Amino acid sequence: MLRTMHYYEGKTILLTGASGGLGSEFATQLLDLGGELILADVKLESLSRFKTYSGKGKVLGTIAGDIGTKEGTERFLADVKKFTPCPDMIINNAGIAQAGAFGDVPLDRWEKLMNINLISPMRICHYFLPDMKARGSGHIVNISSVAGIVPLPGGAPYTASKHGIKGFSDAIREEYHKSGIFVSTVHPFFTRTAILQSERFGVNVDVSDYPQFLIESPENVIKETIKAIANKTDFILPGPTSKVLDLARRLTPGLMGLFSRGLLN
Ligand SMILES: NC(=O)c1ccc[n+]([C@@H]2O[C@H](COP(=O)([O-])OP(=O)(O)OC[C@H]3O[C@@H](n4cnc5c(N)ncnc54)[C@H](O)[C@@H]3O)[C@@H](O)[C@H]2O)c1
Repeated sequence: MLRTMHYYEGKTILLTGASGGLGSEFATQLLDLGGELILADVKLESLSRFKTYSGKGKVLGTIAGDIGTKEGTERFLADVKKFTPCPDMIINNAGIAQAGAFGDVPLDRWEKLMNINLISPMRICHYFLPDMKARGSGHIVNISSVAGIVPLPGGAPYTASKHGIKGFSDAIREEYHKSGIFVSTVHPFFTRTAILQSERFGVNVDVSDYPQFLIESPENVIKETIKAIANKTDFILPGPTSKVLDLARRLTPGLMGLFSRGLLN
């Protein structure tokens, strides 16, 4: 607990997807812990409340940026530079989802998903890793999902992007471990945010059919995540269901397949 309280104090933290359900919870809790935040999202409206924040932490700036394209991400990175030469911590949290069998999802939609969930976070890391290495410190936090460790039928591109960000993170953790750079991945289970109402195509997954008690609260997911990041945990499973599913996929991969198939309507 003491470590969590001090880990974020005075740290410059770049947070993408800061307007969203998990992002705004990250922002609130990190500010209370003394973080100095650069908040970014394609939608800025809900970030305005942070501009008047006066507490332990600081909002260094807000950035309206679309990381769904190469050009948008380049503009976004130039904007980040106006606030800091290189953040102490990067939280790649922005993300989208889609529900539908892969063949029913239009090509431009799943390509956009891959940009936002995987390629742009990689670009952001690629841009700052040399400076982090030169400085000898940095913490990169990439938000994956339970779909980054088990398949989510009805969400093949999402599964690919979240497995991809996990694999990428595991590789750069090893590459940069001697440079004082730490890399964490976070794998939440379904959590009550706007992403659960993502666009749908053809046959799809309806999360409203789920036992509602299994759906996590953003506050609890982020509280546990923030503590685990401060403890330099590489593989973070916030909430009980993500831990149970991780154990199940290790012990009984066949059973996990049956569970996943049951998700498709
Ligand atoms: N909620 C869940 O069930 C759940 C579970 C596992 C993982 N996650 C992951 O958590 C992260 C946060 O998701 P959330 O649940 O808060 O969803 P959310 O929809 O509430 O928030 C996502 C945020 O990303 C932003 N965003 C989307 N496209 C963008 C773009 N092109 N450029 C910049 N920002 C963009 C959105 O504006 C939004 O504010 C995502 O990476 C998501 O995949 C969520």
